[in-house]
Order: sequence, then C-alpha cells, then structure tokens
Amino acid sequence: MTTESQPGLRERAVASLTAARTRTAALTDAVTDADLTAQHSPLMSPLVWDLAHIGNQEELWLLRRVAGRESLRPDIDPLYDAFEHPRAERPKLPLLGPQEARRYAAEVRGRVFDLLESTALEGSPLLDDGFAFGMIAQHEQQHDETMLITHQLRRGAPVLGAPDPDGPYDPPTASEVLVPAGPFMMGTSTEPWSLDNERPAHQRETAAFWMDTLPVTNAAYRAFIADGGYHEPRWWAAAGWEQIRRHSIEAPLFWQREGGVWLRRRFGVIEPVPDEEPVLHVSWYEADAYARWAGRRLPTETEWEKAARFDPATGRSTRYPWGDADPTAQHANLGQRHLRPSRAGSYPAGASPLGVRQLIGDVWEWTASDFLPYPGFRAFPYREYSEVFFGPEHKVLRGGSFAVDPVACRGTFRNWDLPVRRQIFSGFRTARDA
Ligand code: AVJ
Ligand code: FE
Repeated sequence: MTTESQPGLRERAVASLTAARTRTAALTDAVTDADLTAQHSPLMSPLVWDLAHIGNQEELWLLRRVAGRESLRPDIDPLYDAFEHPRAERPKLPLLGPQEARRYAAEVRGRVFDLLESTALEGSPLLDDGFAFGMIAQHEQQHDETMLITHQLRRGAPVLGAPDPDGPYDPPTASEVLVPAGPFMMGTSTEPWSLDNERPAHQRETAAFWMDTLPVTNAAYRAFIADGGYHEPRWWAAAGWEQIRRHSIEAPLFWQREGGVWLRRRFGVIEPVPDEEPVLHVSWYEADAYARWAGRRLPTETEWEKAARFDPATGRSTRYPWGDADPTAQHANLGQRHLRPSRAGSYPAGASPLGVRQLIGDVWEWTASDFLPYPGFRAFPYREYSEVFFGPEHKVLRGGSFAVDPVACRGTFRNWDLPVRRQIFSGFRTARDA
C-alpha cells in the first residue's frame, strides 16, 4: 500500500509515537532520580537505561537508517545496545543521568517529527506504510511494559495509580469452547506494522480441541496450591520441579500467605488475592503443572491463534477475536489504563466468533510452543529482534496483558520468554483434545 491509499498514516505514526512517550514520561517521572538509576532487580535494567535505550533505538532506526544521518552521540551508542551488556551489568555502565537521558530522547524525537513531515512513507521496506515509525512506537511501548515490570519489582511506597477495571462484565455459561478441526490462516502478510516473526501468513491444520473460555483464575489456581500441587512431582516438568524446589516456590510471584489468607503485592500495595481475576506472575512451568493437575494441557500457539482469529462462518482469520476493528475499552483491558487484569468474564464484546473470551489484554498467555520461525520467515529489519531468540529455550506467550499498548498487540502478535520467568505479566488458559 502507498501513502495515497492510507491518508491517516502520518497521523497514526505521530499519535503512536506521542502516546508511547506520554507513557514513558509517566513511568519515569513517577520516581526519584535515585530510583531511576537504581537496579530494582537483577532481571531488569535501571529505568534510566530503558529511557535512553528508547531514544537510542529511535535514533538508530529513524535518523540513521531511514534518514542516513550521522550518530548524535557515538560515545553512548554501545551502552544502549542490548546485546553488548546483559541487564545485570547495566547499572555499572557510565549511563546518561536522568536529565541527560530525557534531553537526549526529546532531542531525537524532535528530529524524528521533522523527518516524518518531510518523508514519503513509501519507496523502501522500512518506509512503506510507515513501518519503521510503527516499529519504533511498538519498541517504546514494549519498553514501557518492561518498565512497568520494574515498577512491580521495586520495593517501597506506591508511586503509580490507576482506576480499577470497570469494563462490561457478563460471565459466559460454558467453561470451554469446541474449536473444529481443519485448516486456518496463521500469521499475517498484510498487517502493515506487523513484526518479522508474525510473517508470513500461512495455512495450518489443527485437530478439534476444547479451549477454556476464560483465563485460569486465582481461585482455580489456589485450588491447585491447596491440593498440594507444588509438592507433587508428577505434575511438573523436570526443570520446573528443580526450579520450585531450589527456590522454595509455593505460589505465584508476589503472593504471600498470612493467617491462612493469600495476599499479594501489587505496585507497592499489599491486598488479598482476588478470586475472580486471571492468575498473574506464573512461570511456564507453573502453568504447565497446573494444566496437568487439571487433566488438561496448555494450548499450542497454533491452537491459541485459531481460537483467537478463525471465523468458521467465513473461513477467514480476523485481526482480533472480535473482528478487524481496533480495540476499544469495550473489547479488552490494554494500555496500562488499569494496573491489574479485569475479572475473568469481562468484555463479552471482545469474544471470538466461537465465544472464547479475554484472549487480548489482561494477562499474557503461555502456550505449549517453542518460539520458532514461520515457514518463509525473513529477519527484518534486524536479526536481533526475533531470529536470535528462535529455539526450544523460549516459550511463546500470546494475547498481551493490561500493560501492553494496542499498537503492540494483535491476534498475530508473538511474545516469548524463558519458561522460568514469572516477573512478566503472565497467566494462561488450558485446552484438551476433543
Ligand atoms: C518481545 C518483549 C521479548 O523486551 O526482550 C525490546 C521486546 N526487543 N527491545 C524484549 C524488545 C528489543 C522483547 N520482547
Ligand atoms: Fe529494546
């Protein structure tokens, strides 16, 4: 498609970049300079690293690669290359301070907006449909989710606030939905801002299977704990059993038990674990063990996407479960509007044609699948976004969480992480063979 056929493209790029920066500012202005430069967990970078890295990636892709400019700060470029320094090392680097980092990111952004006004959004793979601008808006929003994870790990008084979810709530009657056997189209070749690992669209077959209508709730997960699930090796993959024994894990991350009641810490507030909310902060191993205990299994990535996108009435795969329209507050809990998942049973308007709910937003959903390339995959625009992570060591998560912005969330979007990870906004649903 060309600029002519998409008159709103430039505006969409500006709006997406601006929305990302608003969120970045909220997450970084909420804490002191000392908090910005501290490392709150060895799993995470200091927030001030994310801030300058956001600016540096934007400079790299939009000012240097697209516009052919020279580096603004060749001295700092290596500091913000995620592959040069593992997260645990980043606090010891001579990073830009909070004010310098803000000024640098703002300087880059000013030049990018000038560029956006004068550049045709066509003529090269990076420019077509404004792809590079969309990729950079998504990159910033992905780091905004990363920074929200850092906030969740941070100890101390709460600094972030948001209203509780208040979306439509109308629990479904059926606990699972039958997805018919047969082919469907997985992935995309047409979504303009889709990332390399979502491409290309290709046909896949599944057998018939049953999919949970809703994500697994805290109440359901507590029944697994109460039944001794964390002390029964037969439910666990060997490496998962080793992890929970070595670290004495007996519940999701951030849970604690007091006087027989399960509490959780959420952005600095201790509160009772709410029964009806999807379970959050579980590893792939915990999800896998729960599913086995329940006599079920995790859905494969293919099954997840078929349940989310396949419309049996037309045979087509839609962009989202509810169709092709962009998400609204009636469809899903996205974009850090709320700092928690909505109750399982919310957003009836967000259901898939088959009636599966809350696939988009609320909690990332672990799938059974390794992160692998689709047939015909081509790394674009850089191998380090997806390709270097392909393989059995990473498991795929789908659907996005309450912390994901709509620009970085769609039915084809793929996330991945190590199966031991629990600080991410991860939950799951289960499936079984029909
Ligand atoms: C897709 C979330 C796994 O945070 O490591 C950010 C996104 N890639 N900067 C990550 C990403 C480069 C990535 N995940
Ligand atoms: Fe990054």
